[in-house]
Amino acid sequence: MMRIAFVLLAIFAWTNAQAPSPCVAPTQFAARISQYNHGTDTINRFIIQYDAINERWVLFEEMDAFSPGRRFYEYLILTRENVEYKFDQRSHECTKAPARPWRAFGIPPNGTFENEFTLGGPGEMFVAQQWSDRVPLRTNAQILVDVTLINCFPLKEVLISNNNVTQTTTTDFYDVLEGNPNPNDFVPPKECLTAKQVQDKPFTHWP
Ligand SMILES: *[C@@H]1O[C@H](CO)[C@@H](O)[C@H](O)[C@H]1NC(C)=O
Ligand SMILES: *[C@@H]1O[C@H](CO)[C@@H](O)[C@H](O)[C@H]1NC(C)=O
Repeated sequence: MMRIAFVLLAIFAWTNAQAPSPCVAPTQFAARISQYNHGTDTINRFIIQYDAINERWVLFEEMDAFSPGRRFYEYLILTRENVEYKFDQRSHECTKAPARPWRAFGIPPNGTFENEFTLGGPGEMFVAQQWSDRVPLRTNAQILVDVTLINCFPLKEVLISNNNVTQTTTTDFYDVLEGNPNPNDFVPPKECLTAKQVQDKPFTHWP
């Protein structure tokens, strides 16, 4: 009995020594993102701002001069007002839908440490970690997130919604800045004040 207790204690001490503690992501940041939608096999690029203090996101689809007929949207997600606006950046048409419950960006609560590694190569590398919301030996991950080790800046997030792999988005973050350089972007465009609600579900699978 003593021997089993000792072995358990040793295993506990070993796992504790191995398991890094989760970092805390910045509460406000700006970034460019590239987002792969696995269900529709499409890539979209956005310039985003994230504000966990006021529970809101704004995403501007990056305009592409080579797609003249295509629509480019701004998505403004104001979780506390339970609204998402979808604003056509060219025609200025605005529609709305309910927001999904707030989910802070970062390592999921009770997150499981998956891996630690360097990104880049000799002379230009930094350390990053991967965490998930997987319960070891019990559930598959719905969220996989890669962050920088020191300041916990976002690098990559894989989000599998509704346990359905076709509702998966992989988001790569780059050109990341701390804070919200353009706070006025969280003010709805005037066309949105009279916007019609066009659906009962949020416009996007993410965030
Ligand atoms: C975290 O894990 C503990 C212990 O397994 C559990 O009691 C708690 O509900 C979990 N919290 C969340 C947010 O999942
Ligand atoms: C998974 O999602 C796709 C796309 O939204 C949907 O068509 C399909 O029915 C879903 N599958 C399951 C098992 O819910």
